[in-house]
Amino acid sequence: QKTWRVAVLPGDGIGPEVIAQATRALDTLAASDPGLALEYDTFEWPSHAWHKAHGESAPADYLAQLAGYDAILLGALGDPGPIDDANRYLLSDSDSLAPLLEIRKGFDQWVCERPVRRLDGALQYLADPRANDIDMLVIRENSEGEYVNQGGRLAQGTPNEVVTQTAVFTHRATDRIIRHAFEQARARVALRKVEGRERDFGGKAAQVCLVTKRNAQKFWGDMYTEMFAAIAKDYPDIATHHELVDAACMKFVSHPWAFDVVVASNLHGDILTDLAAVLNGGMGVSPSANLNPSDRTRPPMFEPTHGSAPDIAGQNRAGPAAMLLTAAMMLDWMGEADEAAARAGQRLKQAVADDLAANADQRRATDTIGDAVIAALEKA
Ligand code: IPM
Ligand code: MN
Repeated sequence: QKTWRVAVLPGDGIGPEVIAQATRALDTLAASDPGLALEYDTFEWPSHAWHKAHGESAPADYLAQLAGYDAILLGALGDPGPIDDANRYLLSDSDSLAPLLEIRKGFDQWVCERPVRRLDGALQYLADPRANDIDMLVIRENSEGEYVNQGGRLAQGTPNEVVTQTAVFTHRATDRIIRHAFEQARARVALRKVEGRERDFGGKAAQVCLVTKRNAQKFWGDMYTEMFAAIAKDYPDIATHHELVDAACMKFVSHPWAFDVVVASNLHGDILTDLAAVLNGGMGVSPSANLNPSDRTRPPMFEPTHGSAPDIAGQNRAGPAAMLLTAAMMLDWMGEADEAAARAGQRLKQAVADDLAANADQRRATDTIGDAVIAALEKA
């Protein structure tokens, strides 16, 4: 039997509060299923508190420390206050990437998956009833693109200053992210069949929509478009579509139910998934995973889409659903190699969904929601 070793990184702000509910839920799941073995170590870094005490947001060898774990579960990173020298650790600069980006890069977590499936009882911002059946998966390229942070400042601070911020797109990374999108589309067809909620895209059961800005950014747009068309030939069962990112933003709001799998660059994916989180019912219910599907020996990182919400930190007010659903995504990932973990992921998702449905429109404390989910897990 596999014992999964998880590095727990509570981080900043509401991170520690919501992650406490997730580890309680995981403990409950493991206690009730002898087939599931989870072990975790909790680290005080990366965090602003660590930065204050040590002058850096994590120990110099922190990536090496994390490398031995099967998975990383992260609460949230980010500190309130103005972006001054003390607070800039989350931002990348030319010498050091932010820990978040460093972990993604360090373990080559080249895909970020952010599912969009509104649960009953979650906030509904859209009036059209079709918005209740949204079923999207946004796949964000997570290793390069606009996040490589190459470029520089010439004549800095003068009226002649010129700044370049270069985006980099490689054949290799484009190939793997687009193929991954098609693979996920296929997996969704199988799942939807089991669940009896098949969809139709002009005779095909799933669709991949590529997002670019090829009308303004030609080199990248051309390569993505050509490679998308070539790879699509290997997936004749999957429908294809292309949107420009500005139009995609509009359509995510006007008729999001028309989308299935969406694949986008790092920055476009970042922006689109904040928008998509609203379709889920908000940041409070939007999970996320950073994965390296080509090398399962390197730890993936599971973190909610939300940030550290400093305005409500320490008040027992943050909704833990996103963090709990993120923990469920971790169990799903483990579940690809461990039946007990797969079962646990299903149970946790169901418990969160039931809790939301039963308590729609109610303001409840963080630990009250955690208690309710745990009580449901103990019964089920
Ligand atoms: C996210 C966040 C990060 C990103 C920031 C904090 C660097 O917005 O995970 O979506 O842009 O990737
Ligand atoms: Mn973001």
